[in-house]
Amino acid sequence: SDDRFVRILEAGPRDGLQNEKTILPVAERVDFIRRLANAGFKRIEGGAFVSPKWVPQMAGTAEVLSHLDQSHGNRYPVLTPNSKALELFFFTGSQKYTDEIAVFTAASESFNKANLNCTIADSVTMLTPVVEQALAKSLRVRGYVSTVVGCPFEGAVAPERVRELAKILIDLGCYEVSLGDTIGVGNPVTFGRMLNEVAKDVPLSKLGVHCHDTYGAGVANSLFAVEAGVRAVDCAIAGLGGCPYAPGAKGNVASEDIIYALHNMGYATGVDLDAAAQVGKWISDRLGRPSASRAGPALIAK
Ligand code: HMG
Ligand code: MG
Repeated sequence: SDDRFVRILEAGPRDGLQNEKTILPVAERVDFIRRLANAGFKRIEGGAFVSPKWVPQMAGTAEVLSHLDQSHGNRYPVLTPNSKALELFFFTGSQKYTDEIAVFTAASESFNKANLNCTIADSVTMLTPVVEQALAKSLRVRGYVSTVVGCPFEGAVAPERVRELAKILIDLGCYEVSLGDTIGVGNPVTFGRMLNEVAKDVPLSKLGVHCHDTYGAGVANSLFAVEAGVRAVDCAIAGLGGCPYAPGAKGNVASEDIIYALHNMGYATGVDLDAAAQVGKWISDRLGRPSASRAGPALIAK
């Protein structure tokens, strides 16, 4: 039934690639995204309109979008953190190729400063007109809150802070807020405590989870959230990536691992797991790094 459908957000082409040493040119990013779409992923992060000085891996995002196929109901959300980003989005005609953007803030000041060069309050001020203008142009807007359990500079983060920010994003009109354990320090107890707190103000149906896998608990935390009622999970094929402003952070939890577990738990994702495993192998080979997934290589070895 629909209640057992989990909406996967494949973050590899954005969150993954933004922290890989190898910078993939536009044509290969397009190839990568097409392979993911062919494997059944419906929501695939297409890139980011951010400063190429800060994140050179995402340069050329508008061109990537212009080569993507929208015809199967696929969505390619892109990060647009500030008004300049949304201007570039429209100036490049990107609304012809994607109907979804994403904005982000964080629940810890030091991380927000490192990531967006401003305070949390200023980042809310910065993203507010972005959300308003995007909604006025009939775009869908996704929100992210980072460092929802812990911060690389400040340690533990108060769940109340996450709740406040998630509510701000939903009240602004984001259709979903993704809760980012940016440095993967959560476990089902701390992650669950945070989730319970956020759920006081935001329905679970509007929440997503976005677990990085630095300490190996990303799968556990994501599955815990699904069992608690969350129906949107962010992950990256082959566990690509990390975060440039979170020292030592690893990539998102591997899509293959999440999908393997979800299917065995009786959830549907719409993704062809074997095909996804092949894409994971392909991109790992291309980047010259071992896959960080467990399930992907195991399925291929069978
Ligand atoms: P800033 O330096 O404070 O901005 O950066 P500024 O307004 O002073 O502008 C500086 C220069 O950047 C100017 O150019 C602007 O035009 C340009 P200059 O005059 O020096 O030539 N600029 C831009 N260029 C392209 N695109 C833009 C843009 N805005 C200004 N949008 C800024 C502010 C937000 C730009 C900067 O901090 C930035 O780009 N940060 C990128 C942060 C980022 O991409 N982080 C990774 C994604 S978030 C993430 O990974 C977390 C997540 O996965 C969830 C989780 O894991 O928790 C979502
Ligand atoms: Mg992330």
